[in-house]
Amino acid sequence: MARLKTAVLISGHGSNLQALIDACADPAFPAEICLVLSNKPGAAGLDRAKAAGLPIKAVSHREFADRESFEAAVSFELEAAGAELVLLAGFMRVLTEGFVSKWQDRLINIHPSLLPAFPGLDTHARALEAGVAQAGCTVHFVRADVDAGPTILQAAVSVTNDDTEESLAARVLEQEHKIYPEALRLIADGKVTISDGKVIVEDA
Ligand code: GAR
Repeated sequence: MARLKTAVLISGHGSNLQALIDACADPAFPAEICLVLSNKPGAAGLDRAKAAGLPIKAVSHREFADRESFEAAVSFELEAAGAELVLLAGFMRVLTEGFVSKWQDRLINIHPSLLPAFPGLDTHARALEAGVAQAGCTVHFVRADVDAGPTILQAAVSVTNDDTEESLAARVLEQEHKIYPEALRLIADGKVTISDGKVIVEDA
């Protein structure tokens, strides 16, 4: 069966990208990466993609007058690569409603908190400050509001008394590396549907 052509958008380190690359390396995995695109030309994640022999593109947002023209260039590359699904993996640009609706239900994000708690930046610092007992990560369909949209998978980690921002981020990242490939597998297997604004995962 044809594997789902998946593009990954990054801005930096690319450890989630690496987890996705590793999952897709199995020929039995139902998705393949058709493009890795970064808005930062120097992103370390691009080297990971290159090392895996994947097509890469750098589209620097700095070279465009506005968000719309940057996003048009991104969409052009996604379509040229035949992307059927787009995964944001540490892609740190806010996307316009126009881009989000163009890729409606084909655009997925991972965020390092148990949404709807702590959208935006500095999630771990804010979780520690709030004194939550559980932190975690969320894979979700992207909607126009930042870090909002129907949840596909979440993983929780317990917060300990001696946690720092760094120690918590590291434990959450470990979980991100598990649930992002798992979410991709479920989507590519056709097991994820949206009904009434909520995700239904078959066999979950
Ligand atoms: C990850 O923790 C991801 O959840 C987060 O950026 C990090 C990227 O790490 N994304 C967001 O905060 C998006 N709102 P990586 O480059 O090593 O995958």
